[in-house]
Amino acid sequence: MTLGLVIVLFLLGELNAELGTTPNLKHIVIGRCYNYITLISPSSRYNCEGIWREFEEAVVRRTPCSVRVKDYKRMFQATPQTLPCDKLLFWSKTHDLVHSYSAATRRFWTLEDTLVGYMFNDLIWCGMEERDRGFNFSACPEWSECVNHPVYSLWKKASQNFAEAACGNITVILNGSLKDAFNRKSMFGGVELDSLNPRMVTHVNIKVVTNLEGPYIESCTQGSIVDLIKILHTRGFHWTCTDNDLTLMILQCMKNPKQYSCLTCSDSLLNRKRPVL
Ligand SMILES: *[C@@H]1O[C@H](CO)[C@@H](O)[C@H](O)[C@H]1NC(C)=O
Ligand SMILES: *[C@@H]1O[C@H](CO)[C@@H](O)[C@H](O)[C@H]1NC(C)=O
Ligand SMILES: *[C@@H]1O[C@H](CO)[C@@H](O)[C@H](O)[C@H]1NC(C)=O
Repeated sequence: MTLGLVIVLFLLGELNAELGTTPNLKHIVIGRCYNYITLISPSSRYNCEGIWREFEEAVVRRTPCSVRVKDYKRMFQATPQTLPCDKLLFWSKTHDLVHSYSAATRRFWTLEDTLVGYMFNDLIWCGMEERDRGFNFSACPEWSECVNHPVYSLWKKASQNFAEAACGNITVILNGSLKDAFNRKSMFGGVELDSLNPRMVTHVNIKVVTNLEGPYIESCTQGSIVDLIKILHTRGFHWTCTDNDLTLMILQCMKNPKQYSCLTCSDSLLNRKRPVL
């Protein structure tokens, strides 16, 4: 009896693992849009319901594996945005750290800080096999199973727009604990890099960050980052590259202050002389 229940729960768990469209998608997307235009960027004028309609049109009118970048054209036309120079932050395989970095420094804009990035961050969606039947909430295909995956196509276009708009200094944070920290198949290596305009981007600041406990696989002078620098050089970008960005390391230490490489920092903080109040 109990065993039966356990098996049923187990099977339900299995079903959930094959993720379908995020439940309440419409409410989340429209709600995030209102949040953005009301609290985050109150001076902006967007039609949240209109954006949703264009999005829905793009997705449900087609079979799940045939939503192309250009099918989102009208949705992107409804979400134009001017991005600030000197602030754009690109990243690959450093999601968590990058978002604490941009929250802590308040100096940067990531794709997830744009309206479209903010609205669709972490969501999943796909249509039904039969067109115009709405979203498939029980299962969506993997990105790799599709030529034109609805989620991939949206992020591809959003990333392209983001990179095309970049101007002044930009920052790229890559993961030196991985082989191929700079990967031509990633959104940064495959889409964003090619969309950067050397006449608008004056400086590319690369920051390579490893896990505190290693492994230390790539750096500014080792592995795929060297290829990235070559490409930047050939295309006429100015660049810098740092392996030990102090702010990034302190953020990592905040999560794990007892880690060996953090001890000097925490010791000096603990032993500092307090001012007499
Ligand atoms: C580097 O990538 C690994 C594997 O995806 C991940 O576990 C780790 O947190 C990443 N490191 C940083 C500093 O983001
Ligand atoms: C939902 O998607 C799954 C996986 O792609 C598919 O097998 C299933 O037939 C779809 N359901 C409908 C009703 O289209
Ligand atoms: C751009 O980055 C370079 C190198 O990091 C720096 O010397 C320069 O001051 C930066 N300029 C601006 C406007 O932030």
